[in-house]
Amino acid sequence: MIRLKTIEQIDGIRTSCKMLSAMYRELIPLVKPGVETRDLDAWARNWIRRAGGKPACLGYGPKKNPFPATLCISINNTVIHGIPSARKIAGGDLVSLDCGIELDGFVSDQAITIEAGKVSPTAHNLNKVTRECLYKGIEAVKPGDRLLQIARAVSAHAQSFGYGVVHQYCGHGVGLALHEDPSVPNTPRGSNPRMMAGMVIAIEPMITLGSGDVELLDDDWTVVTADDMLSAHWEHTIAIFKDHAEVLTDAVEG
Ligand code: MF3
Ligand code: CO
Repeated sequence: MIRLKTIEQIDGIRTSCKMLSAMYRELIPLVKPGVETRDLDAWARNWIRRAGGKPACLGYGPKKNPFPATLCISINNTVIHGIPSARKIAGGDLVSLDCGIELDGFVSDQAITIEAGKVSPTAHNLNKVTRECLYKGIEAVKPGDRLLQIARAVSAHAQSFGYGVVHQYCGHGVGLALHEDPSVPNTPRGSNPRMMAGMVIAIEPMITLGSGDVELLDDDWTVVTADDMLSAHWEHTIAIFKDHAEVLTDAVEG
């Protein structure tokens, strides 16, 4: 069931989104070769709590195996939901950060991919095109149009460069919970509702140098490319109004 949000609720979700983007602006300069990913995670957890928010990913998921961190940190062949650890960031890594904040009951979601040190031209291009895919998807958000227009825009752009589009994981409704209906895929498949005023969605292309097929590791969270090829991931939270869409999260430099 798609929960349409009121203007007041969207105001609350926007505030949560602005807090999340502000956190990223301070976090990005810390993402440097030699840093352990668990230190970035602890920093983000403290920042969010000091700001009066709650990390939305921490404890999310099944009771038996909740996500154990504030940030998803997914490096190179890890696509999404990487668990922070003693792994140090190395020069040349593509580091995807994904985070949600709950503020007064309103949930935001944003992901960026950072190039640590100097990355290969191949990695840089993948990252650039993945970010472009996100904006192509956002341009396709038009009240009254069908949701899968987003997937068509995202996948056409990625495929024009020969890249793979991850289809086993999707964007989603967001705002009153981290994951709500509808599912917002990056390739055209599944239900295709009309976009309408009050919908708040997270668009999050996951693009790879290879086939786009992924595998889930034994920890039941970490998603890696099946062919071990590089991947990148960008995400914004977007609200739909009667005759326009608004990107609630701010563009931050990756
Ligand atoms: N943007 C991510 C997603 O939609 C946030 C994941 S938090 C996690 O999947 F707890 F599920 F990892
Ligand atoms: Co998301």
